[in-house]
Amino acid sequence: MHREIAKGVYYVGVDDHHTELFENLWALPHGVSYNSYLIVDEKVALIECVKEPWSAEWLANIREIVDPSKIDYVIINHMEPDHTGALPDLAKVAKKAVMVYTYKASDMQKSFYNVPLREKIVEDLEELSLGSRTLRFIHAQFLHWPETMMTYDTQECVLFSCDAFGSFGALNGSHFDDEIDMRMVESESRRYLSAIITSYLKFIRQGIAKIKGLNLELKLVAPSHGPIYRRNPMWIVDHYLEWSSPDLEKNCIIIYGSMYGFTYRIAMMLKKQLAELGVEVKTHNVSYSEMSRIITDTMRAGVIVFGSPTYDAFPFPRIQTVIDEMETKRFAKRPIGLFGTYGWGGGGIKKLQEQLEGLGFSILDPVISVHGQPTPQEVGNCRRLAQVIADLIR
Ligand code: FEO
Repeated sequence: MHREIAKGVYYVGVDDHHTELFENLWALPHGVSYNSYLIVDEKVALIECVKEPWSAEWLANIREIVDPSKIDYVIINHMEPDHTGALPDLAKVAKKAVMVYTYKASDMQKSFYNVPLREKIVEDLEELSLGSRTLRFIHAQFLHWPETMMTYDTQECVLFSCDAFGSFGALNGSHFDDEIDMRMVESESRRYLSAIITSYLKFIRQGIAKIKGLNLELKLVAPSHGPIYRRNPMWIVDHYLEWSSPDLEKNCIIIYGSMYGFTYRIAMMLKKQLAELGVEVKTHNVSYSEMSRIITDTMRAGVIVFGSPTYDAFPFPRIQTVIDEMETKRFAKRPIGLFGTYGWGGGGIKKLQEQLEGLGFSILDPVISVHGQPTPQEVGNCRRLAQVIADLIR
């Protein structure tokens, strides 16, 4: 089903309730939307395609408004296949359409699909007239890939922002921010940013500065995933700015693994000690917390604490996975606390310390490595660590 979202601008996107993991990595408990927009003017422009399995539904949405053979331009803001997988199906029925994208997108398009459509490569801030209105293309490198751009409708003041300002969560017919539970949008958009764009935080800030510098009037912010913002288009822009800030929050996160409960009990003891010292603290058990939620809560946490049993003389494998994510997502350096337990040889915490120091993180003293149950002295060390963390956060 289509919906007119501004004069001559139609939502023709689709909901995905079937994919369990976005990018085959990140949980989608509420689904996700692939947003696509059709502008009907003297010329007809389609902004963004959808993921391949949804091409039939998407083309049916378009046919409710125009015959796809009438499409003059396909504006491709981003080449990732959740935005372009249906392009080959479109090319079969929109044979006169010209693909409009950046130079880098052209290269990717040829290697991904090589569809037999003409192309128009646009420079940063280049404009394209559709008749009564003009589109302006704003290059937005690394939001989310290097070829990405946004598109701005200068007549209706709609910013088609691509992955930027996007959110997980299907729309279920409620396309606007004033039709959706914004508590869920806040949670799902922050999780989306943390999982998908954390590696490129400085590009978020640069992109927002660029948009503000262009003094664009924003009546609608229309991203490629999640709701369209019309009640307060700056709500999502300001939240993205806050979530991408390099400033750390005054809190602590404990990320732990536990096979038989020994490490868990120390995690809970440390959590209680921190809470008694007035520290805001969250915990994640790596065996049960979904990775995108761990990343979301850890990204800007003031202090990170890892708790790990020794597993075959190494750290608990799923703790290792979190550290790998922190490295690839270029987490800001900050103090890290370490505690752990072992049943016989030990060594996991020492390896964790060496690895984290090698990555440039500072390790808080004391490091706690316990054989089985903690001795009274080790309980005291745990209290000392809590005090060090509380002092840091204050
Ligand atoms: Fe929505 Fe970078 O894909």
